[in-house]
Amino acid sequence: MPNAIRTLRVELGARAYPIYIGGGVLGDGELWGRHLQGGPGQGGAGKRAALITNGTVGGLYGAAVRGALPGGVEVSEIELPEGEQYKTLETAAGIFDQLLASGCDRGTTLIALGGGVVGDVAGFAAACYLRGVRFIQAPTTLLAQVDSSVGGKTGVNHPLGKNMIGAFHQPAAVLIDTDTLRSLPPREYAAGVAEIIKYGLIRDAAFYRWLREHAEPLQAREDAAVAEAIERSCANKAAVVAADELEGGLRAILNFGHTFGHAIETAQGYGKWLHGEAVAAGMALAMRLSARLGNIDDGEADQLSDLLRRFNLPAEPPPEMGAAEFLELMRRDKKAADGRIRCVLLEDIGQAALREVRDTDIAALFT
Ligand code: NAD
Ligand code: GLY
Repeated sequence: MPNAIRTLRVELGARAYPIYIGGGVLGDGELWGRHLQGGPGQGGAGKRAALITNGTVGGLYGAAVRGALPGGVEVSEIELPEGEQYKTLETAAGIFDQLLASGCDRGTTLIALGGGVVGDVAGFAAACYLRGVRFIQAPTTLLAQVDSSVGGKTGVNHPLGKNMIGAFHQPAAVLIDTDTLRSLPPREYAAGVAEIIKYGLIRDAAFYRWLREHAEPLQAREDAAVAEAIERSCANKAAVVAADELEGGLRAILNFGHTFGHAIETAQGYGKWLHGEAVAAGMALAMRLSARLGNIDDGEADQLSDLLRRFNLPAEPPPEMGAAEFLELMRRDKKAADGRIRCVLLEDIGQAALREVRDTDIAALFT
């Protein structure tokens, strides 16, 4: 049975949903029963679920989920190939093939058990299959627990750019089992910390202070620090998503560091740099750009680089990438408009905004 569960809510009217955070929630049959299609208050009697995962995560946690699903639910299992390089339309098509072959209908709930790759592809499959079916996010990496499982962005990569094909499709619930972090490799853990630091920088100065003060217990994965960091991150993300679900404006601040970061991921080939690592180096660059434009002190940019290094995160881009490559790739970013680069910058610690940036200011970061 799970320990004390912290519950948050993403307030989206008819599509509002809870986020449960706690050790052991994957084994909580009552939670699963409540949120599967046909659960209390949803009408109908959904009796099917499709558990979508990969070999590693399925091997570690698949049995716990299968064992916790209410009796009588027929479960199909779909194993995806592992790695960012498989976050593709082909992988999504494979999911459709298996859902159709096993006769999954509109009463089927898809369960995304894994990191952001599984969550993004399975969520995209849920958005498209039969024009949209219910899905539950069960994130097992720190990055997925604090970011990708919340907010309904789903999708796949294209050779010409990251996350270029996708849909907004909100989950019915997010089940964050903090115990799963015990098996997470150190590099993957650090990648999640990068997104946690992001929330402090863009909208929660008190949280950023807390992170600087609690870097040690967070790095040591102490339960209390980890749960606190996840809850405060999800609360920040939920508030932004509730205010701007479809990224008409405000939600873009969640992409702090990502315009540089996506350029790094695209240039390096998907999977070489972890997403969170690319975001870390991207945040360091975006901070330096913010300092160059006079919004924050150089000292703040140095402080962020120090904090990133405490978590073994990169604070510099790959040495072989120069201004010309960044400029070319950043012009292809989804936030670019009429070939002009737009980038999230800090106006202060805890305050971010999307701004058009001159090529010369970006180029100056690499001289
Ligand atoms: P990932 O999904 O590739 O998982 C990392 C690795 O950890 C994988 O090999 C996985 O099998 C393994 N793993 C997962 N959980 C484990 C566990 N508990 N123990 C041991 N191993 C485990 O990487 P990620 O960092 O979770 O996600 C990155 C993806 O998320 C990127 O594609 C990125 O674009 C996407 N993303 C999406 C959003 C969004 O809003 N949808 C936000 C941020 C990132
Ligand atoms: N990770 C960016 C977003 O959810 O909008």
